[in-house]
Amino acid sequence: MSEVVVDLRGLADFTAHPYPYYERMRAAGPVHLVRTDEFDRIWLVVGYDEGRAVLADQRFGKDWRALPGETGGDPINANMLETDAPDHTRLRKLVAREFTPRRIEALRPRVEEITGELLDLMVPEGRADLVDALAFPLPMTVICELLGVPDLDRSAFRKLSNGIVAPVDAEEEGEAVRAMGGYLTELIEDKRRSPGDDLLSALIATRHEDDDALSPDELVGMAFLLLVAGHETTVNLISNGVRALLAHPDQLAALRADLSLLDGAVEEMLRYDGPVETATLRFAREPVEVGSRTIATGDAILVSLAGSDRDPARYPEPDRFDIRRDTRGHLAFGHGIHFCLGAPLARMEGRIAIRALLERCPGLEADPEAAPFDWLPGTLIRGVRRLPVRW
Ligand code: HEM
Repeated sequence: MSEVVVDLRGLADFTAHPYPYYERMRAAGPVHLVRTDEFDRIWLVVGYDEGRAVLADQRFGKDWRALPGETGGDPINANMLETDAPDHTRLRKLVAREFTPRRIEALRPRVEEITGELLDLMVPEGRADLVDALAFPLPMTVICELLGVPDLDRSAFRKLSNGIVAPVDAEEEGEAVRAMGGYLTELIEDKRRSPGDDLLSALIATRHEDDDALSPDELVGMAFLLLVAGHETTVNLISNGVRALLAHPDQLAALRADLSLLDGAVEEMLRYDGPVETATLRFAREPVEVGSRTIATGDAILVSLAGSDRDPARYPEPDRFDIRRDTRGHLAFGHGIHFCLGAPLARMEGRIAIRALLERCPGLEADPEAAPFDWLPGTLIRGVRRLPVRW
């Protein structure tokens, strides 16, 4: 039987409006072979039950270095999101206690303070690019303080980081990966010379005490994952969330009228238009049946979190943005052993940012003079580079 491959390359509006494509594919079945700009042939899951099952199924691995013929890899890939048990278990355990809801709650006053300072700068202007003024600097500042890298050149780092999670092409990605590896190695050397009371210093010390706890590459990988995952996603929770509110004035008005709806509204923002469009790459370690398709050993598979969370079998009228809906079980933070470590932090930052923005910017609206949206390329991260607003 010949394989039908859905070609998603070069579709002008797929990046801006992927949902109708996911819907059409889902109507034909939950699992498809697709061709994207990055992959010539890859499985894509667009159904909720199947997506959730794949994320929890350890027959799908993450560490592609385990594939025949693959070796080494770049140090930044030696991180928990690119490894399987037992390495994954060991790496995640080293930092898990720093990210529990209780530990994160202790950061609340500081997150509120940073948000307040950013809005003090923004509010008198009457209009702003919300990404630049709030959505990016808030999570970036928080994760830098947590890790102990206060002097990071944030705009340079953002450029490198964007080049990795949403590369324009393979060349840009390769250069960004190399530059990022070099940058982080230097950062860790600096920290080693002058440690502080922070997470990165603690991780470096772990390595000194117990030589097999964290290899030099794993240290770079951990710093990379926490710094990049700590901001590339939350920036888009805030900006996609505000974009959804501005496009649905009735929902915005309902939220303004009753801020006790805020926590639910943030969950709906995650479900409706979350920051991670497809989960990271997995591959079958043995043949696996998913949605009546057989994924062969070594085949790569992507779970469209965006597609899964718009499955009408799971969420009735999935294209309706409804801040009061029951969003339980959404996959925006993934599922299974790689479920987002930073979810409590991301939720807290998102809630604080949106509340403060609504309180301090009455009449917030999209800037009518703004250029069309500039979407981040690729299928990993969903978001816009700029969100011009006024109030
Ligand atoms: C709204 C914001 C965020 C979203 C939507 C999000 C989403 C996700 C998703 C979908 C995964 C799993 C990917 C997969 O299985 O392929 C993940 C993993 C991860 N996230 Fe987040 N994330 C967010 C914020 C954060 C923050 C603030 C941190 C801060 C440290 C963070 C750290 C991580 C880490 C370390 C992993 C890997 C966990 C593992 O492999 O065990 N994330 N995230």
